Amino acid sequence: MLTYEGGRAVYLINVSIDVKIKMDFSIILHLFIIFLIILLFKVKGGVEMIIKPKFRGPICIMSHPEGCEQNVLDQINYAKEHKIDNGPKKVLVIGSSTGYGLASRIISTFSAGAETIGVFYERPAVKNRTASAGWYNTVAFDKAAKESGYYSRSINGDAFSEELKRETIELIKKDWGKVDLIIYSLAAPRRIHPITGETYSSVIKPIGKPFVGKTIDFHDHKVTDVVLEPASELEIAQTVAVMGGEDWEMWIDALKEADVLAEKATTVAYSYIGPEVTHAIYRSGTIGRAKDHLEDTAIKISERISHIGGRAFVSVNKAVVTQASLAIPAVPLYISILYKVMKEKELHEDCIEQIYRLYKDWLYADKLILDNQGRIRVDDWEMREDVQEEVLQLWNEVNSDNVNELSDIDGFAKDFFKLFGFGIDSINYNQEINQEVEIPNIINKI
Ligand code: NAI
Repeated sequence: MLTYEGGRAVYLINVSIDVKIKMDFSIILHLFIIFLIILLFKVKGGVEMIIKPKFRGPICIMSHPEGCEQNVLDQINYAKEHKIDNGPKKVLVIGSSTGYGLASRIISTFSAGAETIGVFYERPAVKNRTASAGWYNTVAFDKAAKESGYYSRSINGDAFSEELKRETIELIKKDWGKVDLIIYSLAAPRRIHPITGETYSSVIKPIGKPFVGKTIDFHDHKVTDVVLEPASELEIAQTVAVMGGEDWEMWIDALKEADVLAEKATTVAYSYIGPEVTHAIYRSGTIGRAKDHLEDTAIKISERISHIGGRAFVSVNKAVVTQASLAIPAVPLYISILYKVMKEKELHEDCIEQIYRLYKDWLYADKLILDNQGRIRVDDWEMREDVQEEVLQLWNEVNSDNVNELSDIDGFAKDFFKLFGFGIDSINYNQEINQEVEIPNIINKI
């Protein structure tokens, strides 16, 4: 029953025959609003939770939105302090959510002032599971780009599919007309071929004979020997089908056919060579075969787009800690030793520094210096003779007892956790946080 007391509306609720509870109308209103907010969160599925790292194999399956944001902001701050003159204007980054692709998107926008479209395959949050790190990275990138007045759009889905290529081209046509730089930075375990529908899986195996070498478990710092049997012909062919150049070529063909390549458009895909000690498992193994194919594809694409003055390059980048590099035996130990040597020589770089040099010293420099196979070599400091000599010496001596002194395993582990937004001093990891955040303007195809 509604009654009035001192000019305020008050409900009298009959609880039992002779007990009555008085409720101030404004309290009811507040309770109602709180109820609506809770309902809204339930409908939207927003869940506040404490987020801690959780592992499946080498990969962390939880990511921290604020930690990922901090990582992206650190890279953006670097880019803002390192400007590029006469850089690209409209950039499509295929594989833009983590690692080298994310750094390429950040340098394009915040060093060169370009507009970007990013394509990636990332998982949004569901119930009690966080989104993937690449999802949160993109949320953070998008927010920062918007705040600084830069155009950015994202497309989440399978970059290998025809549908995603079509969708991307429609967006380019609608918003830009033409694109002048295409970065191809995919690292994928599988590919469904868009024409045959066949599924290919990539494997990391040696070719011809078994690989026997050192590897490390960076959780317990144990150095052990690993033996990997050589790949079959089918496995080699499948790895080339996933990580080789066919899809890159299909992208450029589709963009060319749709007439959305600007005059003098440039496209770059990323490759790796590395030292002798990892050759058997990397460069001379299945992945290396795929990289050979990628490098041959650059020559084909260059010819295909020469009529508009277009250029296609492979950039050989340095070994860094990313989700892709974690999966390769021996590589985490090599990176840990490399980090120690390069940090001591003040040559250490991560993705963002590498991509800045790629743009400034190669792609948008007055003079473009390539190696004798026509490749860009941003791995020049990693492959310096003095660096590699020291790395090799430490590699030969390293074991579980001395790994903390002979390598930067702590630096490696720190970078690993950072990939997923953990281990960042400024973040309070004991605080509940909403893990369900949206990417504005996203075209979601998964
Ligand atoms: P990453 O794992 O950090 O990034 C891979 C990207 O590909 C992510 O944006 C992911 O969402 C996207 N992606 C994967 N499958 C996809 C699909 N089906 N459709 C759409 N997007 C998909 O990898 P990272 O390390 O940045 O590697 C990028 C390239 O750089 C690779 O070609 C790699 O071989 C090369 N590279 C990496 C080095 C390293 O040390 N990490 C060194 C030199 C080259």
